[in-house]
Parts: sequence; C-alpha cells; structure tokens
Amino acid sequence: MCGIIGITGREDAVQGILAGLKRLEYRGYDSAGLVTNDGRDLRVTKRAGKLENLTRALDSQPMTTSTGIGHTRWATHGAPNDRNSHPHLDPSGRVAVVHNGIIENYQALKAGLGDVRFASDTDTEVTAHLVARELDAQDAPDLLLAVRRVVAQLRGAYSICFVAVDDPTTIVVAKHEAPLIVAHADGVGYCASDVAALIDHTRDVAALLDGQIARISPEGVEVFDVDGNEAEPHRYTVDWDLDAAEKKGYEHFMLKEIHEQPQAVHDTLLDRHTSPSPGEPPRLHLDELRIDERELARIDKVFIVACGTSLHAGMVGKLAIEHWAGIPVDVEVASEFRYRDPIVDPHTLVIALSQSGETVDTIAAASHARDQRAPVISIVNVVGSTLAREADGVIYTHAGPEVAVASTKAFTTQIVGTLLLGLYLAQVRGRMYATETADILTRLQQIPDAITQALNLDQEIRELAQRYHDVDYTMFIGRHAGLPIAMEGALKLKEISYLHAEAFPAGEMKHGPIALIEPGTLVIALAPAGHVFAKMVSNIQEVKARGASILAIGTDGSTADLKEHADHVLTLPEPPHELAGPVLSVIPLQLFSYHVATLRGEDVDQPRNLAKTVTVE
Ligand code: M6R
Repeated sequence: MCGIIGITGREDAVQGILAGLKRLEYRGYDSAGLVTNDGRDLRVTKRAGKLENLTRALDSQPMTTSTGIGHTRWATHGAPNDRNSHPHLDPSGRVAVVHNGIIENYQALKAGLGDVRFASDTDTEVTAHLVARELDAQDAPDLLLAVRRVVAQLRGAYSICFVAVDDPTTIVVAKHEAPLIVAHADGVGYCASDVAALIDHTRDVAALLDGQIARISPEGVEVFDVDGNEAEPHRYTVDWDLDAAEKKGYEHFMLKEIHEQPQAVHDTLLDRHTSPSPGEPPRLHLDELRIDERELARIDKVFIVACGTSLHAGMVGKLAIEHWAGIPVDVEVASEFRYRDPIVDPHTLVIALSQSGETVDTIAAASHARDQRAPVISIVNVVGSTLAREADGVIYTHAGPEVAVASTKAFTTQIVGTLLLGLYLAQVRGRMYATETADILTRLQQIPDAITQALNLDQEIRELAQRYHDVDYTMFIGRHAGLPIAMEGALKLKEISYLHAEAFPAGEMKHGPIALIEPGTLVIALAPAGHVFAKMVSNIQEVKARGASILAIGTDGSTADLKEHADHVLTLPEPPHELAGPVLSVIPLQLFSYHVATLRGEDVDQPRNLAKTVTVE
C-alpha cells in the first residue's frame, strides 16, 4: 500500500528519498512522487507507474535540497494517474502533503472550503488547502499548530506529512490508524511509513502512536499529543540488518524468502521453553505478556481473526488449540468480525494474526474485542507494530523482513506461532504434563531440516510448472490440516500468476464443486499420511474418475498408495507432528506458484493490484 519517506537536514535529500521509495516498492503502488522545499518554492515531481518514471523525470531537472517528502501511492480515491499522485499542494503552492490511508470526511471538508478548485480527485488534497488556510490565519505561521488544528477535523485513517515553504527545514507529521515511524540520526530528521525506508540511515526509530503529531527538523524530533502536550512514541531498535532486506543473489524476494524458511522457523522456535528461575522446571512463554496467566486459564472460547494468508495460518491454529488446549475456536475473516455481533466477553480470547501487524481490518477486529474487555494475543512478525503494541500478549514470528507481496516465510512461522500458542494455552490450563509439552517442542525442532528436504523438490516442481503453467483453472483439495494449505496454495497461485484457482474441503466436492471437473482439470490434492488419508484417497479417486489430472502432495508414509491414483506425486518427509505437517506441505505449493508465475512472465514480487500491507478497509 502507499509508502512515505521524508528527510530533512542533508544536501542530497532527493537521492535519500528515492532510495527510501525504492525500499518501499514492495508495499505495492501505482504512482510515485516527491516534493522539495528550498524555502522559496515547493517543487513537486510525480508520475504514474513505476518509480523509474519518477526517477527519469527527475533526471531532466536535477535538484539539490535538504528537505523533502516522497510517496508511493496505491490508488483509492481517483485513478492512478499523474494528477492524483502525491504530493498535493494547496492552490497557492505554499503547503504540500503526502498521505497514507483514507480521509473519510473529505467531501464535507471540501464543501466547507466553499468555491475552491481542486487539482485532483483525491481525498488527500483538501488537507493541504486546510493547512494553508490555517497558516494564513496565523500572525506568526506555525506549521505544527496548523497541522494540529487540521488533523483534529479529520475522520478516517492517516499517516500524513506536511511541508510548508515558510518553514524550509521542518516536516510535520501526524498518525491515526496507519503506521508512521520517525527518527533522527547525525543531524538528519526522518519519517517513513515503514522502517525498511530508514534502515540505511538508522536502526533507532520511534513509532508514533495514534493521535500523535511530530515536528521533524535537523535538530531533532519532537512528539506531541492532540492537545499539544509533549508525548512519548514507542521507541525501539530494529533488530534486522540491511542484508535481510536485499535479494542476496536470488532472482526474486519471494524465492529468497521461500528458501529462508528453515532459518525463520528455527528462529521462531528458539528460546521458547526456559526456566523462569534457576532450579525451576522449564515453561513455555510468550514474548510479551501483559495479562495474568490465571485470566487466560479461565478462557472458554477463542476467536482467531486475520486476513489472507494469515487467516490460513489461523485455521491451522484452530486445530492446534482445540486439540491441545481443549477450547472451542472460531476462525474469522477480520474484516467481517466487527460488523456482526460476535459474542465476545472477558472470557473470550481473541488471537490476531498478522505478518505486518498493521493490517487495518485485523487491528479493527482486535480493538473491537478489546472494547468488549476480551484479552487479545497477537502473533506478528514486525516488532513494535500496532498489533504488537496493542495486544495483551505477543508471540513474535522471527521471520525477518518479508518483502515479497506474496507471503511465504511469514506464513510458516505463523503456523509455528499458533502451535506454540496452543501448547502455551494447554500449559496455563493444566491440560498437558510438562513432559508432554517438552516432548512436542523437541519434535518441532526437526521442522527446519524437514523444510530443507521439501525445498529439494524444487527441480521436480519446476518441471511440473512447465507442464501446467498454461492451465486456466486449478482446484486444490484437502482435509483437516490439509484444507488451510489447499486454500493457501490457491491464494498463492492466483496472487502471483493471475490464474483462476479455488480450494475446497475434499469431502465437499461431491456436494457441488465436482461439477467443475472436466478432462484435464488440474487438481492438487494435499494427501499426507494420517487419520484422513484414506478419505483423501477416495476423494482423489472421485475426481480422477471424471478425468482430472492429479498432482498429489504426499509424505513418506502415503506416497506408495498415492502413486496408484495420482498423475504426479511429490513426497515430503513425515512431519514431526501431524499438526506441523502444514509447514511442510505448503512448501511445494509456494514453489509451484513461483515457477508458474515466472514462466508466465509475471511480476512475482509486486503482483498487480496488491499491496504488501493493507492499511485501508
Ligand atoms: O500483514 P498481514 O499478515 O496482516 O497481511 C494479511 C494479508 O493481507 C496477507 O496475508 C495477504 O493475503 C498476502 N498477500 C498473502 O500472500
């Protein structure tokens, strides 16, 4: 989704902004622009399309300035063209703005300005007009005060940054329900929507909290609340290095991230089971816990809320929590949760799953739960993100930065996170002997090696992708822990190859979807050894009988049987626990989607219409 970077205090601010925008490309965008402030003029350059278009436009008009803000836009209001790209100016050209999010009351604000011409169709432009009017009304123009008065009128979600020609070294920013990071290092002030844009400059950053406003200058960063009192943002140090945000020789970030999964899962499992004090038996613990364990022991119902790939990880989590902790679990699309009347009370635990920790639908679902006094535990990858900060407990998935829009390593580590949470809830509820927990945790340590074995199937999978990359429709089927993986496989394939793909519970096929099968339809069947294997074989036979081509994903214990029925069988190692199976069975599906998309020549890391972090509803 949109990206922001602002710099003040270095001569090559434009180069710094372009480099920052480059790091934000992965978020997904359809235009890019920047404004520079030399104290005489605000100069805006913006172009629809990729960042190269902006860079090319700037080549023809080189600029040296110490202050500027840049933006990559993912269109919401108004087409993705030059005109609607950010930054936007007020009519006099004194104030410029870039904005992430949606100003919901922009029509009313525009109407309040009277007969004024707008240069764009966006919800954002009106804020530049309003700030300019505020400055005009002041005896001694004060950008901070003007922005404070304007944001008090805004409804919706925003991380928003302003510069004004009268105040050439200042950037004023405000945050509400969309992430905004500020930093100061070596006499330079920064703001960005994402730490990825700042990692070249500093690791000591501060995330603004909702309602905070900051004044950024070469002298430092000052943070205030809505009333103008000094306020404290959430300060933290980024714990990953630049290498993690580079491709390191892989052709795409997605491929690199697929191959990072053994390490990511290893890191997510690390140091989870330690003695609270010397001599005491080890206990499983969360990274952050701001709630009494006795309260968690009284939980009688769980909701898991998430979107997209994270939702699929949540579906595996449901199986783990019900199996180990014995609590009923509902998994719900986050964007639906708060618009019905979920029965949530202080004995309901809500688990929010999110790679970014900034997905607005998931944040909204979690706050809805908190409003009903339900405890919230988040499983997130990005340290210090909104969901991490606002939850009562946090499990971090130590996957490192995930850059490709298509989520891979975040997914497998999220599954591991839900397994850990299932065991943790079993522990606080006294449902498991300590030795049982320890035994399962020991077995889970084998997952990274098993993933490495799964990755060795790459060449075989590439050949299958060669054969099937032109099929129009692929059906994925699975049961039990195979169903979320079937759904994830279908999502991955459609996201990056734009091919039609659907997933069904294998047992549901005969209730309707089997009508879609015709000779040659590709059906990918998740069929590991286990308690539903025999049922899967029956379902495979049903579709085979109707002419489908079957690619079966099996395990050592199931492939001999599968070979009798499927056209192709990929064999994974037996997982160390049936509930850990999804972490392995998703690997061939990630690789299959990747190869299909590259063979079709698609932009794997930045698929069309999609954004990495979805910060609008
Ligand atoms: O950051 P989150 O995990 O909350 O993001 C949720 C979804 O937007 C995300 O998983 C999306 O479905 C990915 N593009 C999947 O590859």
